Amino acid sequence: MPKPIRRLTLAGADVKIYTSAASACEEAAHSISAAIEDGARLGKKVVLGLATGATPEPIYARLVEDHRERGLSFENVSTYNLDEYYPISPLDPRSYRSYMEQRLFAHVNLAPNRAHVLDGTVPDSFVKQHGEQFDRWILDEGGLDIQLLGIGRNGHIGFNEPSNLSVDRAVELPTRLVDLHPMTISDAAKDFDGEESVPRHALTMGVATILAARSILVLAFGERKAPAVARSLLGPITAEVPGSLLHTVSNKVTWLIDQAAASEILREV
Ligand code: F6R
Repeated sequence: MPKPIRRLTLAGADVKIYTSAASACEEAAHSISAAIEDGARLGKKVVLGLATGATPEPIYARLVEDHRERGLSFENVSTYNLDEYYPISPLDPRSYRSYMEQRLFAHVNLAPNRAHVLDGTVPDSFVKQHGEQFDRWILDEGGLDIQLLGIGRNGHIGFNEPSNLSVDRAVELPTRLVDLHPMTISDAAKDFDGEESVPRHALTMGVATILAARSILVLAFGERKAPAVARSLLGPITAEVPGSLLHTVSNKVTWLIDQAAASEILREV
């Protein structure tokens, strides 16, 4: 297993810094496959919270390889994805459902009724119930064992965007429909052939749902993530930087980041 080049405890969280994104992703994939194998050995289901975007792609590639080459079985696994654009068809190649099908679901033995992605086609009038139902499903499964997170340049986790809510209210946010932040829309433009075509809304797993996971792995790579990483780990706890809300449960949070994403924190510590 790749060793971090530096390991720090910041605001109670375990922060592991790697020479490359590939090493950090290998560590994350290893934690996930070990949890799946432990679960299988004990006859227990493993419930995973999954992220999309560029950051976790190597993790899914590794899990697919583990399935093909080592027989890692997803028979005892359920997954819940963090978010989905709204509205969007699951068949749209830019949907997060398509992303997951392409990178993981279609390649492993995960039952279709255990691979949950919020539905970008639910009618407006049903959106609220859909979010509530998603949170209830997770609770009924006994909660998330591992939540995988990326972080937006604006500090968002899932699509919980920066806001002026009090911390007390922010940490209680359930799964729901949100407006996307201008920076999120601009970052998504490359996937939608321009900003005009990026959906203005999304369904996101709530902050409360994320924080309730038994273990949270946050990944961030590259210089462009350095400010969000520093504001999340060194700044005050505030809903203006959703990543900082992770401090409220920091004893179960591990950050797996590369040197570039760590550059600002390394200047400070
Ligand atoms: C994706 C998600 C987002 C991303 C974040 C970083 O499911 O919830 O919070 O993790 O926007 O995206 P990338 O990895 O593309 O830089």
